[in-house]
Amino acid sequence: MFNKIVEQNPASPRALYGKAQSLDVLAEQKRSNKFLEGAIDAYEQVLNISDITDALFKQVAERCINRLRFRGSYKRAIPIHKSVIMKFPDDINYQNELAVTYLTMNNFYEAKKVLYEILLKWPDDGFAMVNYGFILKRYDLDLKQAVKYLKKGISTRDPGVIDGRFYYHLGDALIRLGRSEEAMAVHIDGVKNKLFLSKYQRSLHNVDRLTGKPWWAKEDMPNAKFFDKLEQQWMTIRDEGISLLNTDGLFKSETEDLREVGDWKQFEIYARGVKNEKNCRRCPKTCQLIESFPDAIGCRRGQIKFSVVQPGTHVWPHCGPTNCRLRSHLGLKVPSGVFIRVANEIRSWEEGKFLIFDDSFEHEIWHNGTSTRLILIIDLWHPELTKQEKRTLSNV
Ligand code: OGA
Ligand code: MN
Repeated sequence: MFNKIVEQNPASPRALYGKAQSLDVLAEQKRSNKFLEGAIDAYEQVLNISDITDALFKQVAERCINRLRFRGSYKRAIPIHKSVIMKFPDDINYQNELAVTYLTMNNFYEAKKVLYEILLKWPDDGFAMVNYGFILKRYDLDLKQAVKYLKKGISTRDPGVIDGRFYYHLGDALIRLGRSEEAMAVHIDGVKNKLFLSKYQRSLHNVDRLTGKPWWAKEDMPNAKFFDKLEQQWMTIRDEGISLLNTDGLFKSETEDLREVGDWKQFEIYARGVKNEKNCRRCPKTCQLIESFPDAIGCRRGQIKFSVVQPGTHVWPHCGPTNCRLRSHLGLKVPSGVFIRVANEIRSWEEGKFLIFDDSFEHEIWHNGTSTRLILIIDLWHPELTKQEKRTLSNV
């Protein structure tokens, strides 16, 4: 019916809006991208009509942006953000939403520009402040300024500021600045607000009921046999790892801004449950040994990789993204003077032995020794997850 009305009244906002909404509902009912595209096209047409009420324009623009984000078409959402901002320049939310879209696109540069302008006009807006602080921390690596904005933004308790990402990076910046008491207060406040599982366990993608403890023993695991098998074969794995180290350029530097100083590189074999075929062919025996371990190779929230750390390295305290995996380290080349702290306990690796820990807990690494340290890292699903969960959890 709406199609018919549109045919007769091509410039009727309400007719086009009806068509768009119908397609939108159909898209959801039939889970159809074709209908969704049709809905988005129609919403865009509505926005191009000149005699449209403010109320309708807002409603359509908001829904259109919502659907474009859902579709992952962030670039196409930008002009709509801009036109709604142009029409309603005094509504801060539209400008914050533009910044959010830029952030989702990882376009820190544009996001920062938008937020900067917002804060000139509304210096007390909490949402703009936390996002601005987040960019200063992640993109500019300006810890002091980041702390200032994150702290002030969170203290407003405006909608959207009580978010684990902002708490995590505020705490992290404070730790790096040596302000560990303030960091601890932030973490405890994060637990109070249900953003973190505990002051040490600060992963953001969690299944809440899972047992959380920093260290695990082989015997705690349903797959103890697997760990035994790899420990028996550890020299084979070590030899492959060392020969990889002897070829320049195979190991890639850590890129997540986790090191204070030093050199930490990794050679990936599996990522998010997907085998890196090319790399696997370079260490076939290791790969074959791992293949009999479905909870590891199928762990879509983890990786399997060789990890090498050089003398003089310090890795800042950090938490992994999820409590749904455990992380096991097989010691391959372990000089003296290398340490790992998980929560409040420090241990070291042993050649041919596994250390198993939950990397959603805060952990930190020092290499105070004099020669290369090499380990194999194998992530595996947390043993309390159901089969259904292992099949369906997203791959954060
Ligand atoms: C980790 C980590 C790796 C290493 O495994 O999560 O942070 O190679 N350290 O010491
Ligand atoms: Mn780590």
